[in-house]
Amino acid sequence: MISFMVGFMERKSIEVLKRDAGVIASGQHILYFPIVVDAVEGDTIVDIDGNRYIDFLSSASSLNMGGMNPQIRQAVGRQMEKCTQYCTCYTLNRPMVDYAERLTSIYPGEISAKVFFTLSGSDVADIAYCLAKAHTKRDHFITFRGSFHGNTFASSNLSDMEGEELPPLSNIHRFHYFHENDPVPPDGDYLFEMNEAFKKGLSPEEIAAVFIEPIQGDGGLRPANKEFMRQLYGFCKEHGILFICDEVQQAFFRSGSWFSIDRYGLVPDGIIMGKSLGAGFPLGGFMARSEIIDSLSATVCASTMAGYHLACAAGIAQFDYMGQKSFRTMLDEKSRLFESLAGNLAGKDKWKTKLILSGTGFSYGLQVFDKTTNKPDRFTAFKIVFRCYELGLLIITVAGNTIRLQPPLSISKENLEKGFELLERAMDDIDKGYASNEMLYFYRKRYPGTDKA
Ligand SMILES: Cc1ncc(COP(=O)(O)O)c(C=O)c1O
Repeated sequence: MISFMVGFMERKSIEVLKRDAGVIASGQHILYFPIVVDAVEGDTIVDIDGNRYIDFLSSASSLNMGGMNPQIRQAVGRQMEKCTQYCTCYTLNRPMVDYAERLTSIYPGEISAKVFFTLSGSDVADIAYCLAKAHTKRDHFITFRGSFHGNTFASSNLSDMEGEELPPLSNIHRFHYFHENDPVPPDGDYLFEMNEAFKKGLSPEEIAAVFIEPIQGDGGLRPANKEFMRQLYGFCKEHGILFICDEVQQAFFRSGSWFSIDRYGLVPDGIIMGKSLGAGFPLGGFMARSEIIDSLSATVCASTMAGYHLACAAGIAQFDYMGQKSFRTMLDEKSRLFESLAGNLAGKDKWKTKLILSGTGFSYGLQVFDKTTNKPDRFTAFKIVFRCYELGLLIITVAGNTIRLQPPLSISKENLEKGFELLERAMDDIDKGYASNEMLYFYRKRYPGTDKA
């Protein structure tokens, strides 16, 4: 029989957890620990028991400015006084136009673009999928292993995540994604797998679009290899295939600039945005040249609230804040600190665990390996993040064995340093054999049937 820490079962959070299990679909949460968020105070999360956690998750990179940014709050307050939303299919609204003008002004390569707003990072990929089909009059798509584009119909089929239960659509073809520092393939041909598929009947002229995250997020916070991106882009241009970047997780300075594609110097045919696009409110947006964006009529793609007033007002306030020189200076300084703290931790050689750091800007991953076997060690990674939760740091894993480091860009220097101290302490504790029953219980729930505990 499992026994929990004194008082653990009496927590208000546990009561909510039990009630949640009775009325909420089990597919709604990926739980690492029983945290019930009550407030987001800048870079600190407060749960309903009054426990405080330094935020290293930023609501899965959807709150890049953390909670309570004064400019965003004021803009939202002003907009709330007037109207939260009024259906955007039958009426126009100014915040929507104002925001689209700002977003298109930062399209890489300064090409003239338009925006299609939606409500999330998932449904926007579905829209991009439909528009790519309509524009190119082609039916097939290319995506990559380890990618995540969302959980609606097309986006989930474009994704490749562990535990997928539905067979993928047959017009979606997945190939190998080369990460930075991966070995160079034979003859330097990064598209060899794709070329093999084309020899077997599929024609490049049937491909509507390639969907790619320039930095894989849920696949492990690992940037793409530059030569791989260059070859892929060249291939797309040669065959009239749209090169569409999924920037849902990495845009808005998460990776150090407006978009993560900026580090590759390529001009995509379309950019998918979500998460921090709405600065705390649900909002998705597909941005591309007008001939792509205008290739379907409203009867097939309009949605009642897409691009609604409140989310656009919040997004504009965040956009203007991020456009300021003072924000960039602050971010550059803090990114250097972040990189050195993460590098320092990854460089330590005192545990049975080896850490490999990847990422850039304010988006890093620490892959956890067993030092003896050199194998990915998701059990230890899980125990570390659970121990962080017990110590007051909110952090999770991606791709099983990768610790996700994505604090708000507004995090204080003190909390950034404190967060890394807690992470190191958690690693020390786990290395010494610490394991709480709660930790083991939640590991079994998170990974049923893989009980190593
Ligand atoms: C790269 C990427 N695309 C799309 C999505 C889906 O966004 P949402 O969960 O907001 O629908 C995510 C979510 O994690 C993501 O990381």
